[in-house]
Amino acid sequence: METPRMVVVESVEEVAQRAADYVEALLERKPDAVLVLPTGRTPVALYREMKRRYAAGRIDFSRARTFNLDEWVGVAPDEPGSYAGFMTEHLYSRVNLRPENCLIPDGLAADLEAECRRYEDRIRQVGGVDLAVLGIGQNGHIGFNEPGTSFEARTHVTAVDLSTQLANAYAFDGRPVPSRAITMGIGTILEARDILLLVTGPEKSEILLRALTGPVGEDVPASILRRHPSVTVVADYTAASRLAARPD
Ligand code: PGA
Repeated sequence: METPRMVVVESVEEVAQRAADYVEALLERKPDAVLVLPTGRTPVALYREMKRRYAAGRIDFSRARTFNLDEWVGVAPDEPGSYAGFMTEHLYSRVNLRPENCLIPDGLAADLEAECRRYEDRIRQVGGVDLAVLGIGQNGHIGFNEPGTSFEARTHVTAVDLSTQLANAYAFDGRPVPSRAITMGIGTILEARDILLLVTGPEKSEILLRALTGPVGEDVPASILRRHPSVTVVADYTAASRLAARPD
């Protein structure tokens, strides 16, 4: 299939609800499903919705396994900007995921290359990923797979683009944003059985247009999602505005 399924909705809240519907349906069908989860501004509303559904008795996470997409190198979980800290605040502390079932690359590991291999092994050991939930950076990155990253890449240590560092400065309380991160590779992400790409806000409209209608190439990492057999893009109308305006 060339074109991902597109779901365009009115609001950030509705994007979260649609995404939570996918998670809920998956965990109903397969309580020990393996999820890949993102961080950043985009998934905050999704995690709020997951918490609501858990509190309402609609979703049980007790057997679910999660792998995060990425983590900064050199940032401890209790420091500003940490994705481990983000996940604890927004999700782990609010639902019944078991700590031993929630993995994030360890950006403090003494041997980062070994940590990348360990992460890949863990994904393999649980039988691969059922659903990968992704955001997209304004430069088209998925995870920290910046433009130019090989589509075959496995989990690796990467240099973070300056534009990405700037886009994330808000989370670091004025401290310097690290220039390196560990990210799940595009090759790893593409092995997920289903992929959900969440896109919100007018600042993502240009890159969403390029990712979905421009050439598939490593200069726009998210463009490769069009070669995956099961991708659903859930976008609010501000992010999808340029697609809607595109002449046929
Ligand atoms: P954002 O980040 O949700 O904060 O926009 C998305 C990303 O960079 O992948």
